[in-house]
Amino acid sequence: MTQSNPSAANGDTSSRGLWSSRLAFILAVTGSSVGLGNVWKFPYITGENGGGAFVLVYLACIAVIGIPILMAEVFLGRNGRHNPITSMRLVAERNLASPLWRVSAIVGMIAAFVILSFYSVIGGWAAAYIGHGATGDFVGGNPDTINAMFGNLLASPGELLLWHSLFMALVVLVVSRGLKKGLERSVTILMPALFVLLLVAVGYATTTGHFGEAVTFLFRPDFGKLSINGVLIALGHAFFTLSLGMAIMMAYGSYLGRDVSIGRTAVIVGVTDTLVALLAGLAIFPVVFANNLEAGAGPGLIFQTLPLAFGQMPMGSLFGTLFFVLLVFAAWTSAISLLEPVVEWVEEKTTLGRSGSAMLVGFLCWALGIVSILSLNLWSDVTPLAMFERFEGKTFFDLMDYFTANVMLPLSGMLTALFVGWCVARESLKQDVGLDGKLFGVWYGLTRYVTPVAVAVVFVYNLLS
Ligand code: TRP
Repeated sequence: MTQSNPSAANGDTSSRGLWSSRLAFILAVTGSSVGLGNVWKFPYITGENGGGAFVLVYLACIAVIGIPILMAEVFLGRNGRHNPITSMRLVAERNLASPLWRVSAIVGMIAAFVILSFYSVIGGWAAAYIGHGATGDFVGGNPDTINAMFGNLLASPGELLLWHSLFMALVVLVVSRGLKKGLERSVTILMPALFVLLLVAVGYATTTGHFGEAVTFLFRPDFGKLSINGVLIALGHAFFTLSLGMAIMMAYGSYLGRDVSIGRTAVIVGVTDTLVALLAGLAIFPVVFANNLEAGAGPGLIFQTLPLAFGQMPMGSLFGTLFFVLLVFAAWTSAISLLEPVVEWVEEKTTLGRSGSAMLVGFLCWALGIVSILSLNLWSDVTPLAMFERFEGKTFFDLMDYFTANVMLPLSGMLTALFVGWCVARESLKQDVGLDGKLFGVWYGLTRYVTPVAVAVVFVYNLLS
């Protein structure tokens, strides 16, 4: 994986080192993009926003906004061949544009820091469930016992803190050592394994007798159930799930060989990521309907449904344990990509070195995570923005999730699209992006007009409504 030190890079391709293959790049990007966003967040926000219509808007956002911005970010990285902020400055200089464009990378970095703080808490929930699976706690569970298991976890700050600390330590460990080859290899095995286990869960879901109901829920749009805030959430999630809007893809793109087609790679990653999310939905909602659970149950949804399914299927303890092991792994590879850019930046600006920077940033992030932990129990009644109707009942944890994904990532992504669409010479894009004539035109049009306008319209509507 990204072994060489970006801060020491001088822009010369040969001295920075490149991905060992196109597959390695695809795996690294998939490792970042497939995470809790797909398995944890997508199902619960779909449940909260009424299903089909939300899914449709989300799919449109992935295709029309997400994948084009993914390409734009990878382009910037490969063209700049430095860390994201420097890359943006260099590309701006080459195209006689203002160096201020790098603000988008800065907004993204702040978002990364905040996201990681609560991401690690949720990663901790998944880690706690490895233990539950392994000790047979899912077996014969009914909705009440499974609910109580989750409730007990949320109610104990100490236990949450333990798992959160462990998860963050794992992330800091990898980042402080630099991303080792081993990770590249494990992604090759573990990502497909997660995919297979999701298929097992979907297989079980087809036996619940409520599979058809779930398919209808997910794929038959009923626009009456979708609010404009739901559209914003779908847009924000398209950024979140593809790891966009915070320069990750620029950092990864900076190690990408010239001969690889950015366009084709971005489509492969976008489709894989979407498939994982849809599989998670197909595994979860049949169980929700079969057990009369609440689709809009919120962030706890997968922890209240999947254990039920594992508890009822043959060899459920084994599959359940494995599933949560893989979920932690998927969360881990994503969390690494959240910590990486901030650490890179601190390393450049201070004398702390690689591991010192990783520990400092990791520690601060861990401390902020405690706010999320307390939001789940002792501070669950603290709703700082309750004076605004939209934020009623939202705790610190909910608000951090909401503002990063739905405001900061789209804003930063919009700036990236404007920069690439309007400031970079068309010829240099044409050479680099690797799309044929017509497709290039489509991508260019989307980046120049559709993405910025769509993000702006959704924002303005939301402010007005
Ligand atoms: N995409 C990851 C997920 O779906 C989360 C993530 C990793 C992320 N890196 C990111 C989100 C960068 C936004 C930006 O779980």
